[in-house]
Parts: sequence; C-alpha cells; structure tokens
Amino acid sequence: MPVCPHRFLISLLALALNACVTTTTATPPRLAIMQGVTGNDYTQVLVLTEGEQGYRFVLVDAQGRERSPHSTKVSRHASSSWRVQHVAFRNLTPNTTYLLRVYQHGERRDERRLRTLDPQRRKLRFAIASCMDDRTPQGDIWQQMLALRPDVIFLIGDNVYADRYVKGIKYGTKSWEIMATPAELWRRNVETRNYIALFKSEELVPVVATWDDHDYGINNGGRDYPYKKESLAVFDAFFASQPSAHYQRAGLGTAAFFNIYAFNFFLLDNRSFRVAKAVAGKQQQHYGRKQLQWLWRNLQGKDYAMLVGGDQFFGGYHRFESFEGRNRQAFARFMAKLKTLPTKVVFISGDRHLTEIMRVPAAQLGYQTYEFTSSPIHGTLHPSNWDKTPNPRQIAGQDLRHNFMLLELERPRAGLQLQAAAYAKGGKLLFSGDYVVR
Ligand SMILES: [Fe+2]
Repeated sequence: MPVCPHRFLISLLALALNACVTTTTATPPRLAIMQGVTGNDYTQVLVLTEGEQGYRFVLVDAQGRERSPHSTKVSRHASSSWRVQHVAFRNLTPNTTYLLRVYQHGERRDERRLRTLDPQRRKLRFAIASCMDDRTPQGDIWQQMLALRPDVIFLIGDNVYADRYVKGIKYGTKSWEIMATPAELWRRNVETRNYIALFKSEELVPVVATWDDHDYGINNGGRDYPYKKESLAVFDAFFASQPSAHYQRAGLGTAAFFNIYAFNFFLLDNRSFRVAKAVAGKQQQHYGRKQLQWLWRNLQGKDYAMLVGGDQFFGGYHRFESFEGRNRQAFARFMAKLKTLPTKVVFISGDRHLTEIMRVPAAQLGYQTYEFTSSPIHGTLHPSNWDKTPNPRQIAGQDLRHNFMLLELERPRAGLQLQAAAYAKGGKLLFSGDYVVR
C-alpha cells in the first residue's frame, strides 16, 4: 500500500508531539504525607521519601514567606531505601492555613495545605477508621471522609496489613498464618502509605493512631510476638508525633494520651501486653498491668475521656476478638475499676469488619455510656450473623459495607454530647444518632 507523504508527515509530527507530551507531563506522583499532632502554634508532618538527600521542607504563609522547620528527623530501615522524614514547625499563628512546600534538588516537588488549631473552638469533629487493606480498592472513601472536614482523624488499628502479602515466618497450620519480620513490617508500611488516598490529599488533617494485630505484625497476636520491639519502632517511624501539651506517649507500646479542645483521648495498645493464649484469672491480660496503671493515673482529674482500642471492648456476644470475649475476667476487673472512678468514659474501637453502636447500660458503670465501632474502611467484608448471634447492646449497626465514622463532641453545661454518623463508600449515610453521657 502506497504511503501518502502528507499522512507520513502528520504521523511524524504526531509522534514528535507525543514524545513532547510524554516528557512534559511526567510529573512525579504526589508524596505520601501524614500530618501529625498539631496545636495552636505548631505542626508536624511525616513525609515518605525514597532516599533522603535533596529534600527541603518549608511552610509558606499567606504573604508567601517561607519558614524553615524547627526540627527534622529521618527514620529508616536497613532493608529499604524508603525513609520517613519527620518535620516540625513552631511559632505559627493559630487558626491559620499554611502551604507545606517540598523541594527536591531545588525544584518544587509537592505542595499541601494544612491548618493550625483554632483556640476558640469548643466543638470537636473527628473521624475514626480502621482496617485499611491496600489490596481492597479504596474508591473515594477517604475523599468522602475529608469532605466532612474532620479536625482530626483517628486510625485505630489494622492501619497496615503487615502480616499479609509478605515473606514472613510461618507459625500456624493455616496458609495465611505468617508473622511479619521487621523488614516486611517496613515494606508493608511503605506500600500502604503510598497507596492510601488520605496521605495524597490536597488538604492535610492531623492523624493520631494506635494499632491492632495486623499492623502489630501477627494475626490475633499478643506479647509473645518476637518482633514487638522492632514493630513499635516501625509504628513510631510511620505514625508517632512528637510529645507536646496535646500528645504524650506512655512509654508502653503505642499507648498515648491525646487532648484537643478540652476533649481527652486515651489510645490504648491492645497487643504488646496481651496474653493471647487462653488462660484464666489474674493471668488474663489485655492491656497489661502497667498500661492500666498509667491509664488510672492519667484519668485522675478528668471528668470525661474517650478510650480508644484496636479491638472491641464489649464484644462478648461474638466469637471473634474483643476484650470482653477473649479476656472475660480481666474485662470484669477493668469494668469494676472504671466503676469506682469519677471519670466517665466512652469507648471507641475497630477491627470487626462491620460497624455498630452499643449502649452500655447504667448498671455496668453507674452511668449510661456507648461504644462506637468502625471497620473496615477498605478490607474484606463478612456477614455479621446478628440474626444468629444478636448483640443485646446494639442500637445501630451495619455489615457488608466499607465504612468510617464521624463524631462530634460538645460540652454542654452538664455532660458530654456526642453526634455519631457512619458513612459508607460513595458517601451514603448508614446510620446516625445523638447521645449524651452524664
Ligand atoms: Fe482488620
């Protein structure tokens, strides 16, 4: 077939244009950036980078002035070229939007918006999410969450499936019973951080985290996991904020106290100190004695507190993991102690691969309270079997939907007022309600 010279020229031109387009549009993908705990006048970001040389981080104010970090620190693992750069800024103006700008070798590499806290705020709006399997499509669920404009996001466990899709150590009879080695923990944290849309979003929102079994590194694991020290170092690299007036670690696993707008949160570590095998009496440990001593000590002087755990507190009705279901006697001791305290608590949990709200009757702690469970934001879905094993405490629930929860806290003259709403992928409201603890 003869080739028309014009067509040949056009094809050449198209090829050249294409090459041009390919080279000029090859902008690198956004970096994975997590905003850490933020105050009225400080913030911090954790930036995942491949290698660490050539990066420079600045905050830009509304007048275009660039401000350098107060401190920087790099977390790394010998097995990987991926680093987490911890960058902190101080002496900021309250309630102000800044641009975080990342330079690489002098070129602009990435830009995000972030905000300092508004000291006048009396209401807190926060999101809770758990079970983030990077092999389950996330769709637009993180964008849906961000569109609701939470002040802070709690990632409350199985934030990484570090014991899945890995070369780990086989420990059980089932094919998936693999415990993650430190190199795999690091690799899976890198993969998941690079996957989750939250960390690529235009607007950053402060994140506070604790873990559950899969990010700890072993399914249904406890204190016998041989890499718990190394796993904590990986958690600290990817999720820890610097200690401040708003955030203090207990020095016991991931346990942390976080407070914002006069609301108190205790993030508990349900893995490092748990006796995972079936034992009775005093041997039963879910959070461990030291962590509980820390909790009791730090609840003093607080009228209300939110207790945040990876797995459910009141989950005795089902056969999967929960404090009540796995360590019933330890749970009874925990409840008996809580009942003696003047602090009133609300429970927050994940892990269940379904979402529900439970009412804890006044008979239990001397006041009526609630447990809010949200899971999975993107992960496997299973039927609840609530028809065969009903939850007597449940007041709202939904299975078979990827979900997160949005809560609003207020302090009217008496009590703690909560508004809770569970959302599914696509933005559909699954259930909502207003609750008061007093
Ligand atoms: Fe999970």
